[in-house]
Amino acid sequence: MARKPAKRVGRARDKLVEAAVAVRRKAYSPYSHFQVGAAVRTEGGAIYAGCNVENAAYPQGTCAESGAIAAMVAAGEKRIVEVVVSGPGRMPCTPCGGCRQRIREFAAPDTPIRAVDERGKAMGGWTLGELLPVSFGPDHLK
Ligand code: THU
Repeated sequence: MARKPAKRVGRARDKLVEAAVAVRRKAYSPYSHFQVGAAVRTEGGAIYAGCNVENAAYPQGTCAESGAIAAMVAAGEKRIVEVVVSGPGRMPCTPCGGCRQRIREFAAPDTPIRAVDERGKAMGGWTLGELLPVSFGPDHLK
């Protein structure tokens, strides 16, 4: 059978979407009722996912992106090459300001960040540099 490189890339990307959509259903969000799933892909091709976990002491809640990044670091990885966030509503669920900075720690300015809806439909796409321009990062501390 003929090789179809473009489609293989497409499928690899879809796996990231699938991971974000699947983990979103595990979200614990009894206060906001706003379920979010996030998935990061690392340079080795591995995928790590996380969901938001709210808390009765509201500020203690954590975002989906935080969970995905914690899983990645716990697995011994430190380079994010792509991010997908799945959330509800008509507006694309973009990472909050704090999570943009958390992603920044492990990603480059040209790293793609995509937002999809609950079913995985594309809602928008940006680079990290677009979402967090002129950012502060690990290089500042060297
Ligand atoms: N939330 C995320 O988990 N990620 C985002 O990108 C945006 C917001 C969560 C935090 C909170 O549990 C709920 O969505 C409503 O803000």
